[in-house]
Amino acid sequence: MASSRISGFRNLSVDDRRKVVAEVAGVQKSDLEVFDTDGFTVDAASHMSENLIGTFALPVGIAANLTVNGRDVLVPMVTEESSVIAAASNGARMARVLGGIHTSSAGPVMQAQIQLVDVADPVAARFRLLEAREELLSLAAAQDPKLVAVGGGVLDLTVRTVRFEDETYVVVHLVVDVRDAMGANAVNTMAEAVADRVEQIAGGRVVLRILTNKADLRLARAYAVLDADTLGGHQVVDDMIHAFKLAAGDPYRAATHNKGIMNGISAVVLATGNDTRAVEAAAHSHAVDADGRYTSLSTFEKNRDGNVVATLELPMPVGLVGGATKSHPGARAALAITGAQSATELAELITAVGLAQNIAALRVLASEGVQRGHMSLHAKNIAIAVGAGPDEIGPLVAQLIAEKAFGHDRAEAVLAEIRSDAVDPSESRQASSTGSE
Ligand code: MEV
Repeated sequence: MASSRISGFRNLSVDDRRKVVAEVAGVQKSDLEVFDTDGFTVDAASHMSENLIGTFALPVGIAANLTVNGRDVLVPMVTEESSVIAAASNGARMARVLGGIHTSSAGPVMQAQIQLVDVADPVAARFRLLEAREELLSLAAAQDPKLVAVGGGVLDLTVRTVRFEDETYVVVHLVVDVRDAMGANAVNTMAEAVADRVEQIAGGRVVLRILTNKADLRLARAYAVLDADTLGGHQVVDDMIHAFKLAAGDPYRAATHNKGIMNGISAVVLATGNDTRAVEAAAHSHAVDADGRYTSLSTFEKNRDGNVVATLELPMPVGLVGGATKSHPGARAALAITGAQSATELAELITAVGLAQNIAALRVLASEGVQRGHMSLHAKNIAIAVGAGPDEIGPLVAQLIAEKAFGHDRAEAVLAEIRSDAVDPSESRQASSTGSE
């Protein structure tokens, strides 16, 4: 792929941006036409959901500047929050100065849980189930010969006892390599298939047979070394580390810090037709440390050179097949733009975007703060909401920012003034966004 560092990308028309994306990502420009509003028809949607009354469009944009393991990559993001894509691109731009983002992962391993109730001897039942491990694994493996054929399949069986109030449950885990799938269907089918035999062996009654969204065997990792001067100097570096340490020590800050990471992650998960709720459940359950405290998903350290090393490790249960990944034309096009060849590669790219998002957020928080950029984007949304046309948005936004007035009433009044030539559009400036490339 050509360089993902595309200067002036934001100033191009949508059509010209598509030309650049097609060229850089090596896809056909015509393939990007699915991102027109009618690319996803009501008819196609009717096969994906129930009680359908239509479709619901959101903006799709491109995170630029990303280098992941030495490969330049463009990543599509779907989000309703203005400034998210600009911030991801900005974080990626800062990371590429010292080599970009490096990733690795544990592999596409998911687990299903089988809950047993009314077991008379839970401790001994655990031993009996482990003794029958081979038999239960064969039963599970027989459910999905296709998965075995592509190198995946059930890997292990573990048994836990879980106590709550006066109950002790025996819980069997099936550990499954799901390859390029998100894996929920594969593991749920296996869990249901072995349930009767598990019941016989344990001598209890099976209730739940379902995957766990705490996908802690499917970890993806990303790290980047950030040049101190690029970040804005040593004070910004120290303040970014203070920002991280507050997130590490305080759940009130950790929730916001992790929300910023998820701004990037959920946007790519959604763009690629994956399950945003599964990834969010996995991420937040992983943010709870061994002492049960909710904490930061990422870390920021200063290395010997005075630069910042940012890391992010979290479960990333996403697939290239199944769900909407193939049935939604936009998701298919988004996956093609990423060039990801496996679910593992996609998981790593998504984690890299989460890290870039987090880097950009901490840098802006440790320097000028988010409000200048947010307010200019907010003003733009208000301008559009009150009906400003393409030539009116710029002067209206500039006037609202100058007045620090973000109410709809004032926006309508200023728009009326612009229309009656009371404000000369040529004297107004177009505001810029904090997160800008
Ligand atoms: C806003 O959507 C996300 C941030 O609040 C994240 C953060 O505070 O780290 C800017």
